[in-house]
Amino acid sequence: MIKVGIIGLGTVGTSTAQILKENADVISARAGTQIVVKRGVVRDLHKDRGFDFQITDNVDDILNDDEIDIVVELMGGVEGAFEVVKKALKNGKAVVTANKALLAYHRYELQEIAQDIAFEYEASVAGGIPIINALRDGLSANHIKSIMGIMNGTCNYMMTKMTNERVAYDTILKEAQELGYAEADPSFDVGGYDAAHKLLILASIAYGIDAKPEDILIEGIQNISQEDICFAKEFGYVIKLLGIAKKDTDEVELRVHACLIPKEQMIAKIDGVMNGISVVGDKVGETLYYGPGAGGNATASAVVANIIDIARSGKSKPMLGFDRPMEGKTLTLKAASDIESKYYLRINVSDKRGVLAKITKIFEDNNISVETMLQRPATNQSANLLISTHIAYERDIQNMIKEIASLDFVNFTPVMIRIV
Ligand code: HSE
Repeated sequence: MIKVGIIGLGTVGTSTAQILKENADVISARAGTQIVVKRGVVRDLHKDRGFDFQITDNVDDILNDDEIDIVVELMGGVEGAFEVVKKALKNGKAVVTANKALLAYHRYELQEIAQDIAFEYEASVAGGIPIINALRDGLSANHIKSIMGIMNGTCNYMMTKMTNERVAYDTILKEAQELGYAEADPSFDVGGYDAAHKLLILASIAYGIDAKPEDILIEGIQNISQEDICFAKEFGYVIKLLGIAKKDTDEVELRVHACLIPKEQMIAKIDGVMNGISVVGDKVGETLYYGPGAGGNATASAVVANIIDIARSGKSKPMLGFDRPMEGKTLTLKAASDIESKYYLRINVSDKRGVLAKITKIFEDNNISVETMLQRPATNQSANLLISTHIAYERDIQNMIKEIASLDFVNFTPVMIRIV
């Protein structure tokens, strides 16, 4: 029998305990042994949760319990969780976590500390989709060319409702929180950080690259307005928050931001809390992974899969997929300013003679070539210039936006959304 201790009995922790109980028949058959929760850690002992295992508010009751084989860390946070899982590993316990923030900062240290002790984290990326398994095992024969996808269920849920039903941003964020999709601090979701944490984890498995959130381009969906959603729709695009990792010779670009995606692309059709990730390998070609990216049962499904895997073998794979670095092939992180993309810009200007000529001159001065341009009246005196560019450098676009924003006939900083 394998005994499990769960640290954190919120949405995912509760679902983990329930799945282990409700699906015990299939789980024990697959694992070849019975798996039971021995103890759970909660913050508030006074709340009655109706669990049939012991509850404590002291993590050491799990970490120091010799009968517990697997510690499931679902407490969240970074440094506190790091201390807890380090202690679990030091005490010889296998660890399963859904904590992407922890991994975004400490994954290489944890790999070093874990050595042969199993440390698994399938639930940390894309909830119920077994993307880590796919990337680390199923695609291990490939050089990975790119990873691109919807990695935050909350943002996708919000963007879908804002697009299809024109629901207001705050209303729909509250709904995502009530449904248990959002992080404890939802600014992690809408600010793009949660997706970035996930992208960094996938980038380590795909490229062996060690980067921190601070090193990469991260933007969220806070500034996406109904106006831009409608213009995007009119021109045949949908707006979604994407995580993108792309290999270009010996550099890897990593970025998270809202994108305009042509509506016929598969990823554009992934709606609601669903996540969808495309992985392109040099031998396999494109593969696509789709499923619920957040929510108790979906995330716990991945947690329990890791528990079963450990119960079966007790062994650890190379935690981040590489047993050793590739000889003579170190990939480095591309500077954000060197990233190339097409861009959508909405420049709100006073509708006066000569404005267009001045704007297009600034495009030319910044090496940016216009692909399409359209002017739409906004109010009596102002108009929206809707522009899409040919491929340009991020640094040029950023400089140009600053220059345009400083002009007296420009009413506010131009809106910029990258086009996939
Ligand atoms: N807040 C996360 C999301 C949960 O919305 O995707 C799953 O990691």
